[in-house]
Amino acid sequence: MPKTILTGLRPTGNLHLGHLFGACQNYLKLQDQYDFYLEIADVQALTDNFDNPKKVRLNVKEITMDLLSIGLDPTKVNFFIQSQIKEIAELTVYYSNLVTIARLERNPTVKTEIAQKKELFGHNGESITYGFLGYPVSQAADITIFDGELIPVGEDQLPLIEQCREIVRKFNSIYGKTLKEPEPILSDTARIKGLDGNEKMGKSLGNAIFLVDDDEIIKKKIMNAITDPSKIKKDDPANPNICMVYYYHKLVNTKENIEKVCSECKKGTRGCVACKKELIEKMNKFLAPIKEKRKYYEAHPEKVEEILKAGTQKAQQRANIQIQKIKKAMMIDY
Ligand code: TRP
Repeated sequence: MPKTILTGLRPTGNLHLGHLFGACQNYLKLQDQYDFYLEIADVQALTDNFDNPKKVRLNVKEITMDLLSIGLDPTKVNFFIQSQIKEIAELTVYYSNLVTIARLERNPTVKTEIAQKKELFGHNGESITYGFLGYPVSQAADITIFDGELIPVGEDQLPLIEQCREIVRKFNSIYGKTLKEPEPILSDTARIKGLDGNEKMGKSLGNAIFLVDDDEIIKKKIMNAITDPSKIKKDDPANPNICMVYYYHKLVNTKENIEKVCSECKKGTRGCVACKKELIEKMNKFLAPIKEKRKYYEAHPEKVEEILKAGTQKAQQRANIQIQKIKKAMMIDY
């Protein structure tokens, strides 16, 4: 039996280049080798969007179309919707006994997210919900209900995988060896910088290029990208290594052109406007086949629904077998 790969994405917005280079290109390689389960994590998205169900609902379809348009093959990847696997909710309840509140509060990813929320909304600690604090427990259920062994994720998810491993060990030590300990798989580029030079590209940071951005938006975003601030005149020599335009050239341009961009920038024979224009052209070329594929799914929404339905059914069957095994180990199999 090939190993099971499992990963999840929160349906809260469209995919951007950070997702594509950070994690999704890894999915493309892995889909050929493993039994691949891809969860559209709508329940997890609701943990911090519980008051905006429309947004989550809309983005389940949007993100699925994005994933299909980058080349994930629905005959190889099992797309499913988290909320439709009731065993995940059930298992979350069982796991909630195996983790302390202090441990959840110490989880570095959760800790950062809580700090960000406080910064954004001035929330005090009391406004953090039980559901939000507990989402790592639910994520452990996502993974283990399918016996997920390899988990392709971005760097920020490592503490969540570690938390899952701890739950698995605790479960196995109390109820007997039942569950597999998952391992993360990191992509070569775990993180992509934003247009503003921020270490992370993110929707909420407003520094992202989305796969669905049209030519006009891409032009505007790239024209505003951060370059070497010491370069004032067109023929001033500059440092490409602190320029976001060069950074993106490296992602989408050819090797030969990248070298040219670099040396011309250093010599001062390349103006920023010309350099940005070239990047706009290359970026559009890079995104064109993705947009083309997306158009097909936009015109055939029933195909997207079928893919989600078939994948969810397969996931339900597997989850059902696993929950029985788990309940037996816990002596609640009446
Ligand atoms: N927490 C992940 C994120 O925010 C999404 C996710 C949900 C996930 N369930 C998962 C990732 C299971 C890996 C495995 O991106």
